[in-house]
Amino acid sequence: MNEILKLDKISLVYHTENGEISALDNVSFSVRRGEFVAIIGPSGCGKTSILSIVAGLIKPSGGKVYINGKENEKPSENIGYMLQKDELFPWRTIEKNAFLPLEIKRIKDPSYKEKLYALFKKYGLREFRKSYPSQLSGGMRQRAALIRTLASSPDLLLLDEPFSALDYQTRISVCNDVYDIIKKENKTAILVTHDISEAISTADRILVMSKRPSKVINVHDIDTDKTLSPLKRRESTNFSAWFERLWRELNYENK
Ligand SMILES: Nc1ncnc2c1ncn2[C@@H]1O[C@H](COP(=O)(O)OP(=O)(O)OP(=O)(O)O)[C@@H](O)[C@H]1O
Ligand SMILES: [Mg+2]
Repeated sequence: MNEILKLDKISLVYHTENGEISALDNVSFSVRRGEFVAIIGPSGCGKTSILSIVAGLIKPSGGKVYINGKENEKPSENIGYMLQKDELFPWRTIEKNAFLPLEIKRIKDPSYKEKLYALFKKYGLREFRKSYPSQLSGGMRQRAALIRTLASSPDLLLLDEPFSALDYQTRISVCNDVYDIIKKENKTAILVTHDISEAISTADRILVMSKRPSKVINVHDIDTDKTLSPLKRRESTNFSAWFERLWRELNYENK
């Protein structure tokens, strides 16, 4: 079976002191193995909530989540979650940060550490592995955070606006690097982003969410050349048509 993830009629209501907030309403979609899916939608519509449900951190009020065809009830070992901020611990070196998931999951198998060293080398961080996060550039920290996310060899990566803390130039180049790593390591990824260009330049498919209570209002197959890097895909002839269409969906048709 090629379907790594399926959300079936997911709804989510948060209960707060001021009453109930209906965040998600009947959200269904699935993701195939190896696919790169981007999720865009208005601020506060429930994108992070979707990722938290997939990661098993919160329970939906209704509906089911299937991972590899199985109903997912506990946080899964097969999922890596990379948050908006790199969230490296400042008192740990880059290397010790990257080993953290192995410590938490008590993984002793030396092959995991070897794999991490190989990733450090491959992605230009070998000389910096004894450095602390504050001694690295924003882009290097983001790469280190991704390597940490890859530490326990997750099949599915959840990326919640992972580049939003970076300046524009760095953001484009780090997005390129991170995309490259994800593809080379044969991972499946779900990227939540506010940046339409970032979504078009990375995704095989884009889900457009409505405002709260959020539904999937459209799913688009993005027909840019997937053999190109995200940076090159920005130069595709159909790029601006996609941008306009998604911009319209988000800003005018999403009332
Ligand atoms: N723990 C919580 N308790 C109560 N309400 C919450 C909680 N987490 C999120 N919400 C509410 O649920 C809605 C969806 O939040 P969520 O963080 O999933 O949105 P988002 O699409 O990721 O937003 P953004 O684009 O700003 O990151 C918001 O209205 C938010 O206020
Ligand atoms: Mg969010």
